[in-house]
Amino acid sequence: MTTSPLQQRPAWKALEAHYTEIAPRHLRELFAHDPTRGTRMIAEAEGLYLDYSKNRVTDETMELLFQLAHESGLVERRDQMFSGEHINVSEDRAVLHVALRMPEESSLVVDGVDVVREVHAALDQMADFCTRVRDGSWKGHSGKRIKNIVNIGIGGSDLGPVMAYEALRYYSQRDLTFRFVSNVDATDLTEAVRDLQADETLFIISSKTFGTLETLTNAKSARNWLFEQIGDSSAVAKHFVAVSTNAEKVSEFGIDVANMFPFWDWVGGRYSMDSAIGLSTMLAIGPQGFKELLDGFHAMDEHFRSAPLERNLPALMGLLAVWNRNFLGCQTAGVMPYDQYLKRLPAYLQQLTMESNGKHVALDGTILSYDTGAIHWGEAGTNGQHSFYQLIHQGTTIVPVDLIGFAKSLNPLGEHHDILSSNIFAQAQALAFGKTEAEIRAEGTPADVVAHRVMEGNRPTNVLLAEVLSPRLLGSLIALYEHSVFTQGAIWGIDSFDQWGVELGKELAVKIIPELEAGTEPVLAHDSSTNALIEHYRALKRKEKTHAVD
Ligand code: F6P
Repeated sequence: MTTSPLQQRPAWKALEAHYTEIAPRHLRELFAHDPTRGTRMIAEAEGLYLDYSKNRVTDETMELLFQLAHESGLVERRDQMFSGEHINVSEDRAVLHVALRMPEESSLVVDGVDVVREVHAALDQMADFCTRVRDGSWKGHSGKRIKNIVNIGIGGSDLGPVMAYEALRYYSQRDLTFRFVSNVDATDLTEAVRDLQADETLFIISSKTFGTLETLTNAKSARNWLFEQIGDSSAVAKHFVAVSTNAEKVSEFGIDVANMFPFWDWVGGRYSMDSAIGLSTMLAIGPQGFKELLDGFHAMDEHFRSAPLERNLPALMGLLAVWNRNFLGCQTAGVMPYDQYLKRLPAYLQQLTMESNGKHVALDGTILSYDTGAIHWGEAGTNGQHSFYQLIHQGTTIVPVDLIGFAKSLNPLGEHHDILSSNIFAQAQALAFGKTEAEIRAEGTPADVVAHRVMEGNRPTNVLLAEVLSPRLLGSLIALYEHSVFTQGAIWGIDSFDQWGVELGKELAVKIIPELEAGTEPVLAHDSSTNALIEHYRALKRKEKTHAVD
């Protein structure tokens, strides 16, 4: 395979050479020789303090990464995004989630349209609706107020809403119940509505395309559930609203377009939680809370747009991710929020990072000769410590980890919060410095156990610290990750805004559905494995019921 333009850049070559110097060095040594490292390798913006000193880097590494950013045109590409150029090349679209949080008085004309005007018109429509639901003046079909809100969507039309609801639950209107249905497995919908009264329930059908099979299947079943309880098909008008870019399909489904909240093709699904896709978020925290969330996003956008790379949080995190992936060879990365309210953040970031940067071709379609997006995963602290951290500490795979914490708890209770937070610092320390054989021997450990207890350390972490979780802080945190993902994609020269890889599975499933619904027909014409699996499934379906499944 020939090397790509990226690998021919002077900074890339210099980083390759530099890696051979870094490889034998331990974080213990880097810290011992540089007492200011922990106060120098930090950056702060919009209430977020980033300590990146426990990465396996030196000042020289950082200089070379900044040089790589310049040689790769990161700044130019960033400016192209902010000005509405069609940087999503494979779909020929602008990428303008940053316009979703621009202040009302600003303006951004793209393809002849001031998108900021459209954004604020949609926000006004959302605010009017949310106020009416929250104060009870939006009545259901039987005249009762809405008590339950069920968001039906998948991918970006689910993960952002559910993550934001959980994250901001503390700020939510507590007499409203929120549920989120995404999986086409009927269990998801069934359990979500099991204890709800239809005449007090509002469904938000969230789908950018309004063509996603899982969402439409759930939406139809939700509509049937409503009809069965209320017995009147006109009830849809008061109990179903849609969030979509596709008015025609919304109307075809039976939702009045007056009850549709729009967004635009320049908002990627995984970048849409601050568009009308955030309707459930606004219902939960109110228009003012949603505005604070948007302000937090916007503040981080401005930071990304204006701060020099050396102090630019998203650029720093993105460049470190490239270093870890391409030079240290780390295939995976962990995100561990030490805040129970952020328990769905890892799932949200999985789509953001992996759907964006899980790509194998460059912008011009040539096959890449270097690795791209790492596998992201995580869990709220401290739960992960008692399940998989063993591998992070002593396994043979190096997992760079982001540890996210807050100085203040929203639910202060005795010593809980300091116990929780101590673990952030302790984990970063343990991962960086480990425990040597000599230290373990000095503790009087039996000789045959010493090797088992050695903690090699030298494992990279970022620590992100903030005062307290708030709507504004959440916005800044998510924008930080969005732009970190952008930075990585810009270096790798890939299209971070398409997702063609999810299409083939969808197409094949659509062909297989009728084959599963039928008894023994039609004759199958797949590969031998798929044929045998479908036959076995059909045979199991035909079997007499052995336990109660209705
Ligand atoms: O299957 C991938 C995907 O296209 C995601 O990118 C998107 O967030 C999700 O499906 C849902 O799409 P929609 O909002 O159009 O239903």
